[in-house]
Amino acid sequence: MDICAVVMAAGEGKRMKTTHSKVVQRAAGKPLVSWVASALCEVGANEQVYIVGHRQEEVREVLGEDVAFVLQEQQLGTGHAVMQAAPFLEGRNGCTIVLPGDAPLITSETLESALSLFEAGDYAAVIVSANAPNPKGYGRIIRDESGNVRKIVEDRDATEEEKKCTEINSSIYCYRTPLLLSALGRIDAKNAQKEYYLTDTIEILIKDGHKVGAYIAAFDETRGVNDRYELQQVGKILNNRLCRKHMSNGVQIIDSSTTWIDAQVEIGQDSIILPGTFLKGRTVIGNECIIGENSRLEDVTVGDHTTIENSVARECSIGMNCRIGPYSHIRPESVLNDNVTIGAFVEVKNSTIGAYSRARHLTYVGDAQVGKNVNFGCGTVTCNYDGLDKSACIIKDNVFIGGNSNLISPITLHEDCYIAAGSTITDDVPELSLAIARNPQQIKENWVVNKNRLRSAKLIQPDRRREGV
Ligand code: UD1
Ligand code: CA
Repeated sequence: MDICAVVMAAGEGKRMKTTHSKVVQRAAGKPLVSWVASALCEVGANEQVYIVGHRQEEVREVLGEDVAFVLQEQQLGTGHAVMQAAPFLEGRNGCTIVLPGDAPLITSETLESALSLFEAGDYAAVIVSANAPNPKGYGRIIRDESGNVRKIVEDRDATEEEKKCTEINSSIYCYRTPLLLSALGRIDAKNAQKEYYLTDTIEILIKDGHKVGAYIAAFDETRGVNDRYELQQVGKILNNRLCRKHMSNGVQIIDSSTTWIDAQVEIGQDSIILPGTFLKGRTVIGNECIIGENSRLEDVTVGDHTTIENSVARECSIGMNCRIGPYSHIRPESVLNDNVTIGAFVEVKNSTIGAYSRARHLTYVGDAQVGKNVNFGCGTVTCNYDGLDKSACIIKDNVFIGGNSNLISPITLHEDCYIAAGSTITDDVPELSLAIARNPQQIKENWVVNKNRLRSAKLIQPDRRREGV
């Protein structure tokens, strides 16, 4: 069967209170409308047309070039929206799935079931319905005495009796394409909202003598997103689904209510994700890693057997067997090779760190190319910025940097050299050498005794700080 899809995404979404398109708002790291697009692709509806209007450029941007767009200049209702796709639908004979762009929870399994019912039952249309705990605001599915669908009535147009019905219209439908076009041509705007309702096509088709079915889905799947609260709720449901997917793949998530995983993230088997962890964007984590607690990784690649604790990393790559944190910050363009240790209050930016190198405490490594087996003593700073330009620091294999050293870049520390603790290094250091760049220590014997004698004789001012001045 030829399956295509029309997605309604032109509405303004006033209740969201946003200057952007409602359907590009993200849930679990993915725009609402992209969740819909993915479900459609999974059921083989590869030909998709999106009805766009309000902030259309944003919708076009997130969906890209694989789908078609039609502009609905004025938003005159859902029926009017689908009518804009008529040129795209004419001449087609199969099924058109119509759905709203703000229903990200719909699964391909449910679409598949609705399509199966559609194909098996010789229906002109199948509506995806659901039993809503609180149906207020939704269109209701009105059935006759034998349980056949008769029409959909909008909440605002419903009688008191009809309002009692809890079976709601999800606004997701499978239509026989030529019959959809024929019915669309006959709808009008004579209703409470003076809009062209897509829902009116159902009664028209039934009056024409066709059969319309309803596939009753789980209410959660049919939820739309109208405001910020619903966006949050939908985000939680999607996050929970994603966590379950990872758990079924062998990832241990300790608490999915405090673990937030974006749609595209990949995690290897036997990895453990601890509470308070955000895995965002295109993050890919290997096998047997421990991530968290309280860590945020965005667009980060992590090799197998690495642990990252209480840390933040973005747009970088971390190798196998690395130990990161607690309290490390790995910034964009950084590449950490295997067996690297980055410890407490260490920041790495735009730097490559060779295997087995380690910066365990209080260090800044910026714009550096660091070789293998390099030791950064506590408090090492690559001084890479002179206020105008950034300069590179090249540190070759097996360099040992003593604590509290400043490396004034551009600079090269050659293989196997040592930097004495407390040095400010301004010139390149040759291989196998020791560089000491600090003032020689002076000892002034009995200096304290002399100072105190002067003070007791009141020959000098008392210590102002001690008196709290
Ligand atoms: C619609 C249904 C209602 C159903 C509910 C489910 C109609 C008349 N009513 O109501 O039966 O229970 O969805 O959520 O269809 N849109 C356009 N152009 C327009 C109008 C709307 O593209 O001119 C888009 C919106 O952006 C949105 C979708 O269509 O994505 C649904 O429109 P909305 O106004 O939210 O319909 P509801 O009143 O919720
Ligand atoms: Ca809606």
